[in-house]
Amino acid sequence: MVLLLMCFHFIAQVLSEAPPDLPQNVLFDNWQLTWTPATEEHNVTYTVRYHSLDAGIWKDVPTCKRISFTSCNVTFMKAEADHGCVMMGVLAERHGLTSELARACSKQGFSCSPEVVLSARPDFLTVHLSRNSGFAQEGYHVKHRIYFGKKGEPFETYDAVSSVSFHEVKEGEHYCASVQYLYFDHLVGVASCTQCQVIPQSSEATKHLEAIVAVVIVLVILIPLFAYICLFQRKRIKELLQPSYKIPNHFFLDVRHPYRIPISSNSPTEVCDDIASVDFIKQ
Ligand SMILES: *[C@@H]1O[C@H](CO)[C@@H](O)[C@H](O)[C@H]1NC(C)=O
Repeated sequence: MVLLLMCFHFIAQVLSEAPPDLPQNVLFDNWQLTWTPATEEHNVTYTVRYHSLDAGIWKDVPTCKRISFTSCNVTFMKAEADHGCVMMGVLAERHGLTSELARACSKQGFSCSPEVVLSARPDFLTVHLSRNSGFAQEGYHVKHRIYFGKKGEPFETYDAVSSVSFHEVKEGEHYCASVQYLYFDHLVGVASCTQCQVIPQSSEATKHLEAIVAVVIVLVILIPLFAYICLFQRKRIKELLQPSYKIPNHFFLDVRHPYRIPISSNSPTEVCDDIASVDFIKQ
């Protein structure tokens, strides 16, 4: 009975055992692969694997199979692979269970890793890529696979020939990118290590500049408009500004025909003509 229980316990332990975590920070630098163990991993061994276009499959590096240290000299690749453009990774193994392959990346720059520079502006992030360096010089069959996304979220992939700007970004958030070469739609070489940039807030200076530009635009429209009104619509303005003036009726009660002058004293009742104008004739 006790034996049976122990047996069950052992089977349960084996079944519940998870594969080891991925090795961390797998860096490819000057034909050395280095990594750091995932936290609290014991009895773990590592196996380095590579993938070249020529081979077409992932193979173990013979000198770095089930090793317990955390680096591997892969200088032999230099001669073996065409252009040295191999993909590399390392997996952890414990009790016959293996982790996924943790892909290596290159921080230092290397002919088979794209050189990447990120630049962030308040409303976009640009991934600058060069076509004049490294493997990109091999010709137009070479493209870039960009892994891009918000920090902490799954990245999306974009294929591009040259530099790309991403506009769907939010100010104050971190965005990251990593780039790998594509050759005839096959991934080659080691990806560049993930770089991140924070999207800057539009600064006070920019806001001031925007305000000044807005004022200038308004003035450019308003000044000619005022000038036009002043020069050509003066009469209409005067008309509009005139008060609706009416002479009160009692004004006419005592003074009748204020503008009429009698021509003959003999006939005071005679209706006289209005004087429209008086001409002076020079003698
Ligand atoms: C890696 O191995 C090569 C020979 O295969 C050797 O020349 C080189 O010094 C080694 N690098 C290191 C850092 O051990």
